[in-house]
Amino acid sequence: MVRVNENYLKIQASYLFTEIAHRVKAHQDANPGAKIIRLGIGDVTEPLAPAVIAALHRAVDDEAARETFRGYGPEQGYAFLREAVAKNDFQDRGIDVAADEVFISDGAKCDCGNIQELFDADVKIAVTDPVYPVYVDTNVMAGRTGTSSDGRYSGLVYLSCSAANGFVPSPADLPEPVDVVYLCYPNNPTGATATKEQLQAWVDWANAKKALILFDAAYEAFIRTPGIPHSIYECANARSCAIEFRSYSKTAGFTGIRCGYTVVPKGLVAWKADGTPVELRPFWTRRQTTKFNGCSYITQRGAEAVYSPEGAAQTKATIDFYLENARLVKDALSKLGYDVTGGTDSPYLWVNVKGDSWEFFDKLLKEANVVTTPGAGFGRAGEGFIRISAFNSRENVLEAIGRLSSVLA
Ligand code: MLT
Repeated sequence: MVRVNENYLKIQASYLFTEIAHRVKAHQDANPGAKIIRLGIGDVTEPLAPAVIAALHRAVDDEAARETFRGYGPEQGYAFLREAVAKNDFQDRGIDVAADEVFISDGAKCDCGNIQELFDADVKIAVTDPVYPVYVDTNVMAGRTGTSSDGRYSGLVYLSCSAANGFVPSPADLPEPVDVVYLCYPNNPTGATATKEQLQAWVDWANAKKALILFDAAYEAFIRTPGIPHSIYECANARSCAIEFRSYSKTAGFTGIRCGYTVVPKGLVAWKADGTPVELRPFWTRRQTTKFNGCSYITQRGAEAVYSPEGAAQTKATIDFYLENARLVKDALSKLGYDVTGGTDSPYLWVNVKGDSWEFFDKLLKEANVVTTPGAGFGRAGEGFIRISAFNSRENVLEAIGRLSSVLA
C-alpha cells in the first residue's frame, strides 16, 4: 500500500492564485464579452528589455554551432552570471558577497520552497501574517505544522503585521523562541518596506539566538527611496545569520523565462543536535547538484544582459513604468477615501477595504471586471484588505482606475 504524504491533506484550499484563476474563469465563462483587467497575481506584462532579447538570440545561436554549443551547465549557474551578480548586485554597492556564494536557479519561489529541506524537521518557523503563501505551504508539506484552524497552522509562529507596526514586525513580537524566520522586504503582499534599523534588529536577534533569517528580496529593484536596504547583507553581521533570495521575474520581466538566485554565505552555519556547527553552503550545493540540473544557458545569458549598461537602463525604465502605474492607482484609491500601503518602492498596493476581502474581491470582479487579490488569501491578518498589483499596461491601469472609481464612489 502506497502511503500518501498526509501533510498535503492539511493544506486547506488550493494555492491562492489557482483559486483566483478559477473564480476569474467562471466569471469570464458567464460573461464572455467582459473585458477583464488583471491586477491580481504579480505577473509582468511589458516585453523584455531589447538588450535581454538580443542576448537571448545570441545564446540561441551559440547552441547552433558545435564550438559554442552548451549541454549540461554547472548546477550552481555559469560563472559569467554568478560573477555579474556578485559585482553588480552586491560588490558595487559595498556589500560583501562573492560569486561562489551565488546559486543561480529557475526562480525565487522554488528556492524559498526548497531551502527548508536543509533544516531539521523540528525547527520552529516564524512567518509574518499576511505572508507569501509559499513559505507556509512548503513547511506544511514537509510536516512542520499541525492542522489549520481559523487560517493558522498549529506549530507555526505568526508575526501579525498591521498599520500599527507599519507592516514590519520586530523580534520583540515573537511570542515564543523560533529557529527560522522568513522576511520579505519590500513586502509581498503589503508593499511595505523595512528600514535598515528594523532589519538590523532581526540580524542581531538571529545572531544572538543562533537563528536564521530567510530574506526574500524579490522586489528590491522597486526601491527608489534612498536609505531603504536592498539586501539583508547591508546589515552588519548578516552573513552569519541570513540567506537571501532574488528573482529576475519582477526585476527584468522573467516570470515566463524563469531565473533567480540564492545567496548562501561562506561560514553560515546551522547546528547538529550535539551543538556541532555545520556549514549550510555545502548542503545547498549538494541539494542543488542532486536535485537540479541548472537554469538553461540561454536564460542565464539573458539574465547576464540585465547588467549591461543598456540592459540596466532598459529594465529600470520598465520598473519606473510599473511604479508610475502604482502611483496612479494609489492616488485614485486615496482620493476615494481608502488607506493604501505600498505602491512606492513596491509594485503592490495593500488597500484597507474595511470589510470581507473575498466579498470585496468578488464585487470588483463582478461589477468592475477587475481582478485583485483578497488579503485573506495571505493569512488571517490579511482579512479586511485587498492587494492590487501595478503590473499592467498604462491603458489597462487607467481603464481599471475609471471602473474602480465608478464602482467604489
Ligand atoms: C504574487 O503575485 O504574489 C507573485 O506573483 C507570486 C510569485 O512571485 O510567485
